[in-house]
Amino acid sequence: MILDDVEQLLHERIGLDAGTVGASGLNYALKQRMAACGVADPSAYWQRLLAAPPELQELINAVIVPETWFFRDPGAFAAMTRQALAMRGPAGAARGRPLRLVSLPCSTGEEPYSIAMALFDAGLAAPDFVIDAVDVSTRNLAAAAHAVYGRNSFRGRDLDFRDRHFKPVEGGYRPQAEIRRQVRFRYGNLLDPVPADAEPYDVVFCRNLLIYFDRETQQRALATLHRMLAPHGVLLVGAGEAGLPLARGFASLRLPMAFAFVKQAAGERHNEPARLPAGVPALHLPPSRPAPAPPLRTRMPARPAPARPTVTSPAAAPLRAVPPREAAGDSLGAIERAANEGRLGEARQAVRRHLDAFGPSAAAFYLLGLACDAEGAGEEAVEAYRKALYLAPDHREAMAHLALLLRQRGDAAGAKALGERLRRLEKRSEHR
Ligand SMILES: C[S@@+](CC[C@H](N)C(=O)[O-])C[C@H]1O[C@@H](n2cnc3c(N)ncnc32)[C@H](O)[C@@H]1O
Repeated sequence: MILDDVEQLLHERIGLDAGTVGASGLNYALKQRMAACGVADPSAYWQRLLAAPPELQELINAVIVPETWFFRDPGAFAAMTRQALAMRGPAGAARGRPLRLVSLPCSTGEEPYSIAMALFDAGLAAPDFVIDAVDVSTRNLAAAAHAVYGRNSFRGRDLDFRDRHFKPVEGGYRPQAEIRRQVRFRYGNLLDPVPADAEPYDVVFCRNLLIYFDRETQQRALATLHRMLAPHGVLLVGAGEAGLPLARGFASLRLPMAFAFVKQAAGERHNEPARLPAGVPALHLPPSRPAPAPPLRTRMPARPAPARPTVTSPAAAPLRAVPPREAAGDSLGAIERAANEGRLGEARQAVRRHLDAFGPSAAAFYLLGLACDAEGAGEEAVEAYRKALYLAPDHREAMAHLALLLRQRGDAAGAKALGERLRRLEKRSEHR
């Protein structure tokens, strides 16, 4: 039966597990291609497919899912930016040379262009980084090179980046030349072997492709991604793929909503804490079980300065028994897990319940900021990050995320001030 044969061929060629697009998706693509070729008989089409490689490429173009948009999962770009700055820093693995990043699959270009915008926004200059962008769809690559984007490519609520990095053209918006020059598009297949002399990457974005593979192909793809990365390079996957790299040569960076992993060297234990790329300081992660600390009430400053954001003082809250600290830690751990697995709405609601139950904490406001940020609720995210920083002025992750968000929202001065504060903190921790 031709459908089975086509499924098998697509699986061999691009790893597609037909179950993930459904029989109707495959049927639709087949019908489209048969009509385009003017062939009514499925067997005749099958013969043509085998005889003419360009037709196989057309079928691939028709069957793949091209879904993508700018700054999809903003947490991933914030985490990438922070790692990139550290890798380029004085103790970083990429000091003195351009940082090498790849977006594979890049689809129609929104992801690699977002990487370029984020790195420019963070203060890097053109010679500081190169971005390769690879995809198996020639149709998507042609759209990426044309680089005119309509509404569907801009989905968040914060679109200030569009004013800064795009110019309006007929049919939509085009990234400015400095952004486009930073990205090198090329045709490629994740399932093809990595050449022995291939230069390794510091950062690989491989998002929203592994979900279309079966287990065995996922394993093969992850082995390829591992080979593509420099020692302790960083891999970013999609929200629905965050469980896959663990125990396959990667350790989680434990950055909520970034879905980011660091390559482990052979011999490193699978579940040991992530070793960060050289130059990346240790993170303040929201602890799943916080160390003993003063009672929640005493952690709040007695009188908040008026210019700062308002945080409801637990002292003003109705009297209630102080819940055991372990329960607070478990609750934060559960929120972090929901966030890491991309259950954003759930994470956001759970943080609000957590704040009601346990009172304000930097860890909870940071998680709330991430969840709002990822859902495109920029204003709420800014407010939550500010509250986290009010409670923990050295919270580097909140600082890095807030800086990126402010920049995206057009507050360049605010972002710059935070960036400088962050760099001072990181320098201080390097000297420790
Ligand atoms: C859903 S898009 C993901 C785009 C982007 N990474 C993102 O997350 O927004 C999936 C892309 O994977 C590409 N693709 C499918 N199989 C591939 C393969 N074996 N090698 C490289 N790219 C592939 C498709 O052409 C499509 O552009």
